[in-house]
Amino acid sequence: MIMFSSPNSPIVCNLPRVTIVGAGRVGSTLAQRVAEKNLADVVLLDIIAGMPQGLALDLMEARGIEIHNRQIIGTNNYADTSGSQIVVITAGLPRKPGMSRDDLLKTNAKIVVEAAKNAIAHSPNAIFIVVTNPLDVMTYLAWQATGLPRDRIMGMAGVLDSARFETFIALELGVLPADVKAMVLGSHGDLMVPLSRYATVNGIPMTELLDAATIERLVERTRNGGAEIVELMQTGGAFFAPASATSVMVESILLNQSRLLPVAAYLQGEYDLEDVVIGVPCRLGCGGIESILELNLTDREREGLHTSAQSVRKSIERSQEILAE
Ligand code: LAC
Repeated sequence: MIMFSSPNSPIVCNLPRVTIVGAGRVGSTLAQRVAEKNLADVVLLDIIAGMPQGLALDLMEARGIEIHNRQIIGTNNYADTSGSQIVVITAGLPRKPGMSRDDLLKTNAKIVVEAAKNAIAHSPNAIFIVVTNPLDVMTYLAWQATGLPRDRIMGMAGVLDSARFETFIALELGVLPADVKAMVLGSHGDLMVPLSRYATVNGIPMTELLDAATIERLVERTRNGGAEIVELMQTGGAFFAPASATSVMVESILLNQSRLLPVAAYLQGEYDLEDVVIGVPCRLGCGGIESILELNLTDREREGLHTSAQSVRKSIERSQEILAE
């Protein structure tokens, strides 16, 4: 028999660990993305017994084929999440056809607060990314529940909304989606603010390639991007693109890439907005939100951002009532 020889002292490898709370379609697809991009070991947690364990085993069995060596652990116990560098909260119910993201407020507020409290207790140094809808409010609640400084907690929505805008621009022009760059600010909902004048195709302004009516049509489709998929699927909503969008945020943080991405952040005066979470351009690195970029907005864009923020603020107030009930 051929044997491995043992080293004198055991080698301790502290590989980065990402916890994903909620093993639904977004959470489990994100687990796959993070592991298969070889970014980190993944702990997939859900309250349903056996479900995250089964998904983790399934992902582990694909490792030889996908050629990576990341561990994927499925669990129902927060103790197994300890020492995570990043915690992603996807737990909560998805939208049903005809429901707005705000309809989810009541159900998901308590779920997210509990998840955030449990996760921070085991990973006090983690950076948190919230994905549960209504996104901006849930990020605010997780910020409150964890007591984290604002650079270490954020929400994923702008990357997804921007990817949708980029997709529709690319489809319209018949160009490679990766050559299109666009940024969508504001809340994740009907009041999001796609910044048309900043969209480019490899540096060429979109406004020189498409007429105003076409751009408006693409903007409307972007605003309705999540609902369009919910209507088509009838059961649940999008998960492939939401998982991809979250994975680039995870990647930028773990690899300290300093990517400039639209991220739902807690604002303290930026864009003249205070004590609200909303999508703005942020530089994401190993410290989390390393800086917030304040763009020079037109009056119309600024108004759009403020209208969006007012609606989030209303939902935050409602959420405080719900949590006090
Ligand atoms: C969407 C959900 C994730 O926009 O909000 O598809």
